[in-house]
Amino acid sequence: MSENTTQIHEVVRQRYGAIARSQGSSCCGGNTASASQDNLIPLYDNQLVATLPAEVTDLSLGCGDPVTIAQLRPGETVLDLGSGGGIDCFLAARQVGDSGYVIGVDMTPDMLAKANANKVRMGVHNVEFRKGQIEALPVTDRSVDVIMSNCVINLSPDKPAVFREAYRVLKPGGRISVSDIVTEGEFSPELRADAAQWAECVTGAIDAAEYTDMMRAAGFVEIEVVSKLDASGLIPVQEGMPRIFSARITARKAE
Ligand SMILES: C[S@@+](CC[C@H](N)C(=O)[O-])C[C@H]1O[C@@H](n2cnc3c(N)ncnc32)[C@H](O)[C@@H]1O
Repeated sequence: MSENTTQIHEVVRQRYGAIARSQGSSCCGGNTASASQDNLIPLYDNQLVATLPAEVTDLSLGCGDPVTIAQLRPGETVLDLGSGGGIDCFLAARQVGDSGYVIGVDMTPDMLAKANANKVRMGVHNVEFRKGQIEALPVTDRSVDVIMSNCVINLSPDKPAVFREAYRVLKPGGRISVSDIVTEGEFSPELRADAAQWAECVTGAIDAAEYTDMMRAAGFVEIEVVSKLDASGLIPVQEGMPRIFSARITARKAE
């Protein structure tokens, strides 16, 4: 692993460890609706999250709802990249039912501790949280029906590796549904080097076309940017930055 990758992972781990310990701070959203009142991006349908405990919804740090676009079916095996406090895993667990299984992978120990405490609190048995990096997934080849991810891949310093790993663990015909921060245009090298803003889901984001090109290079087909909403109310945007969006992107591994 390169020195840059290790450094970014460390800054990201520190930020999300602190958020997990203080529970309820905000990052990419900070709640089940956008933190901003000016430019509200709805994250989840109210009915979907209404019965989740506050400990789960308060630690929702995503920028969209990858569960709903994944259109999960009973019995499916689902993998959540960067599962945080577990909100999307718990929603997915309900949809795949007892015959299905959900794996959440996260590299931040304090986040995993919160997710596991939430699992016990909810009495859920078909969810497992694994410690690991999304660039080197602790998951067997061709074992997963659906991958989802919510506001995480933008944080990775090695996005091509994330997509290669996602492709490796998907079964043939498997699908991926992500909500993520993307841009139109590039950040300057100075902004890219700002590790604090990277960890806030800002300066690690890449142009949507580059993002989908990376997915294609990993082997994905039927890549679709389902929606792209202005994210300036969701994350701290400054002058001199490219336009920033919360996008929902789906794709498939060929049969
Ligand atoms: C913005 S939060 C999103 C959490 C969750 N998906 C949600 O919607 O609430 C990002 C999460 O991804 C994890 N993460 C970031 N980069 C990662 C990486 N390279 N490998 C594994 N986990 C990572 C962080 O520890 C954090 O829990």
